[in-house]
Amino acid sequence: MSTEGLCQKAMEMLKMAYVPYSNFPVGAAVECEDGTVYTGCNIENAGYTPTNCAERTAIFKAVSEGHRRFKRIAVAADTERFTAPCGVCRQVMNEFSPDMEVILVNRDGKTKTLALRELLPYGFDNSYIEESKSK
Ligand code: THU
Repeated sequence: MSTEGLCQKAMEMLKMAYVPYSNFPVGAAVECEDGTVYTGCNIENAGYTPTNCAERTAIFKAVSEGHRRFKRIAVAADTERFTAPCGVCRQVMNEFSPDMEVILVNRDGKTKTLALRELLPYGFDNSYIEESKSK
């Protein structure tokens, strides 16, 4: 899918966001290695901590359908600045595809593309666990 198409899908998901507490909608569209695209929005909860970000909604939908490798994810917010993914979402991206790209989309549809490795330097992954097992 084109970059514009992926960003458009992320922006379209803003209207699906369930955000009665923050009133801060976020939309996401993740492109899998095979080209399949899954979308997501943030889903809040009166308990606050059960809230799921848009990025994780999209990624968990993809993983639950058998996809584990991602090329890129577009993240749209209704802000003038580029809204960056939270630390938890960066960690979830890192679990599956440390080399993926993250495209931030602002309310005007302008984009800024970053490498996940820039957003999450020295990310924790399974290699640390495996290394400690072999001692
Ligand atoms: N949120 C996302 O969905 N993604 C981000 O990248 C940043 C934060 C959501 C969580 C919560 O529903 C709202 O934005 C305010 O934190």
